[in-house]
Amino acid sequence: MSAFHGANPQLIVFSGAGLSAESGLATFRGAHGLWEDMPLEKVCNYSTWEENFDAVHAFYDARRIAAAGAKPNPGHLAVAEWQKRWPGRVYVITQNVDRLLERAGCHPVIHLHGDVLLMHCVDCDFEWEIAPAAYDHAGCPRCRKKKTVKPGVVFFGQAAPHYEVLYELAANLRTADTAVVVGTSGAVLPADQIFGRSRAFSFLVNLEPGSEMDEAAFSACCYGSAGKILPTLTEMIGHRMENPSQN
Ligand code: OAD
Repeated sequence: MSAFHGANPQLIVFSGAGLSAESGLATFRGAHGLWEDMPLEKVCNYSTWEENFDAVHAFYDARRIAAAGAKPNPGHLAVAEWQKRWPGRVYVITQNVDRLLERAGCHPVIHLHGDVLLMHCVDCDFEWEIAPAAYDHAGCPRCRKKKTVKPGVVFFGQAAPHYEVLYELAANLRTADTAVVVGTSGAVLPADQIFGRSRAFSFLVNLEPGSEMDEAAFSACCYGSAGKILPTLTEMIGHRMENPSQN
């Protein structure tokens, strides 16, 4: 990812699971969240995943199948529209592993927590894409080992190489820039610290106020569903992107 600067104002969209909630995909926290039924220590922990191998694959099979059956919602489509309207000026960074942003037309998308369609062999480091279905347990196509195949999702305790990109982009934000943070509790990445305290004008769009972030740090907070709110931000974002002297 190249450095984040240029004459024109830039937009960063930083998303979490709430962006895909209206597409029918469960979020992680809160009522009916995925971590309510399944301890994340069991299926999302780099130091224990091998001992929970079957449960890990069953959990991510279910995520892959659910994502394949879901469709992008108006929130994803709004982000794709922004990225097309201002080429090279809109950075889409997501914690989501469902590829719905890409299916809405976003490109590129920076995936901080991996991608449920990818598999990774922790032994030979090979990474490959599988069909949008349950993993067939055929093993690593390169080294043929079976028990070293892990879903291509970043687990707790595992390095997340794209975090550096996130922090670099945020550090380079200027007052003319805009950051839209959508559908994230902030429990894993503190979007209030990263974007709310950046130089950019920062919006938080979440279903409801949460307790993980200092939401007063954002320039503005809009509570409601991403699919309803994001399309309504287009005009305001357009104004900021096209009239920087007024920002
Ligand atoms: P969370 O489940 O922690 O938070 C979801 C957020 O989305 C909450 O703040 C909700 O208020 C909001 N929300 C729910 N429905 C919404 C809607 N329709 N419109 C807008 N907002 C809505 O999800 P994340 O913050 O993405 O990591 O979780 C961060 C990371 O924790 C995930 O990437 C995952 C998880 O453990 C890994 O798997 C490594």
